[in-house]
Amino acid sequence: MAAEDALVAAARAAQSRAHAPYSKYHVGAALEAEDGRIFAGCNVENASYGLTICAERVAAGSAVTAGAKRFRRVVIVTDSDPPGSPCGACRQFLAEFGTDIEVEAVGPRATRRWRLSELLPATFDKEALDT
Ligand code: THU
Repeated sequence: MAAEDALVAAARAAQSRAHAPYSKYHVGAALEAEDGRIFAGCNVENASYGLTICAERVAAGSAVTAGAKRFRRVVIVTDSDPPGSPCGACRQFLAEFGTDIEVEAVGPRATRRWRLSELLPATFDKEALDT
């Protein structure tokens, strides 16, 4: 078997650290910046359920904190079959940094791929605020 790609490996490692005692749905995400750096995140749930943060947003926050805002690809690893795609809030959150990014959802048996622009057409973005 070919070596697993570094981005998928980073998302898997993050998934193993998910804090999901309520849903028991473990998610790992990894973003590849244009400069090659990788930023990972896992979902972090809370006893006050609505405070939960998705893996993708944790990864994006980590990237922005490190000064990375231009991304090539994001991988989301779940145990769902077919693999879980990013929720609407995460689509919008990632779209802040561009909708050309490749989105890859990896599950136990299959991988699904899209451009973010396909998952979130007619994005609300800063252009709307400028008019
Ligand atoms: N979750 C994510 O981490 N990313 C998504 O895009 C969808 C949902 C998390 C939130 C919650 O901890 C669990 O999955 C079940 O909704």
